[in-house]
Amino acid sequence: MANRIVITGAGGLVGRVLADQAARRHHEVLALTSAECDITDPTAAERFVSADDVVINCAAYTKVDAAETDAERAHAVNAVGAEYVAHACARAGAELIHLSTDYVFSGAKREPYEIDDETGPLSVYGRTKLAGEFAVLSAMPDAHIVRTAWIYQGGDGPDFVATMRRLAAGDEPVEVVADQIGSPTYVDDLVAALLEIAEGDIREPVLHAANAGAVSRYELARAVFELVGADPQRVRPVGSDRHPRPAPRPPYSALSGRLSAEAGLTPLRGWRDALASALQGVE
Ligand SMILES: NC(=O)c1ccc[n+]([C@@H]2O[C@H](COP(=O)([O-])OP(=O)(O)OC[C@H]3O[C@@H](n4cnc5c(N)ncnc54)[C@H](OP(=O)(O)O)[C@@H]3O)[C@@H](O)[C@H]2O)c1
Repeated sequence: MANRIVITGAGGLVGRVLADQAARRHHEVLALTSAECDITDPTAAERFVSADDVVINCAAYTKVDAAETDAERAHAVNAVGAEYVAHACARAGAELIHLSTDYVFSGAKREPYEIDDETGPLSVYGRTKLAGEFAVLSAMPDAHIVRTAWIYQGGDGPDFVATMRRLAAGDEPVEVVADQIGSPTYVDDLVAALLEIAEGDIREPVLHAANAGAVSRYELARAVFELVGADPQRVRPVGSDRHPRPAPRPPYSALSGRLSAEAGLTPLRGWRDALASALQGVE
């Protein structure tokens, strides 16, 4: 019998797809929204977690810009809340997979970040997520931290690919930043990797799970336009200074899957193939 999968933050993008795919793979699933299990409550997670569960913590404060002026709340969820979940798992004898982000890196590199590269978050969000990584591993050294990046589904939601798809349906030019390079990741591929980790026996504590390759937001937007049959020339490259945001983003944050593959994780496919799959069948 497959382990039960307990999902915190189950109302979010990753949590919803994960609950669906885990059930399809015949796991018993306990999907907990923030209303059902607030991870900032020190005793909330332990009320739900049993021995042999695999807990996948998808709960996070993900508003990157808002975090700049709401650091206390971001820290409470991303660092302290994550630690409470890890303590609950350690006490119960459950496994834990905790999600983290490419924004733990500074972006000074120009080739994909390896698991063991030096971190250096630029934003409050990145700092609180990095604090969460440390807190989880110190409460539960055999937990898995899975860093991912630029997640999209491409459907009706607010993610970048979905937004570009909607803009492609119009006829206006669209300005997109060309000086942020990363690893766009199709949520279905991320979730498949999370379930592989949940079902497998990978020992490496920190893993990267992002579609392969490095691409700027501008190139990604052009690829969306091409794939939905719109004119990619309508996408115009601009610098981040043209659309200033409260939180600085790393100029380069592509994630290397090399060491994760060596640790036993099936490499995620290239970003362009994944994007084509995501956009297939979307109206
Ligand atoms: N999206 C990306 O591009 C991206 C990139 C890299 C890493 N990640 C990481 O991937 C993970 C999943 O992100 P996502 O894209 O699925 O984010 P999301 O759609 O914003 O979902 C996050 C979920 O966490 C819940 N949550 C917030 N505070 C909570 C609390 N105190 N207790 C319990 N649940 C709480 C939210 O519920 P409410 O809405 O009710 O507050 C929401 O359902 C996060 O760890 C994130 O840092 C995301």
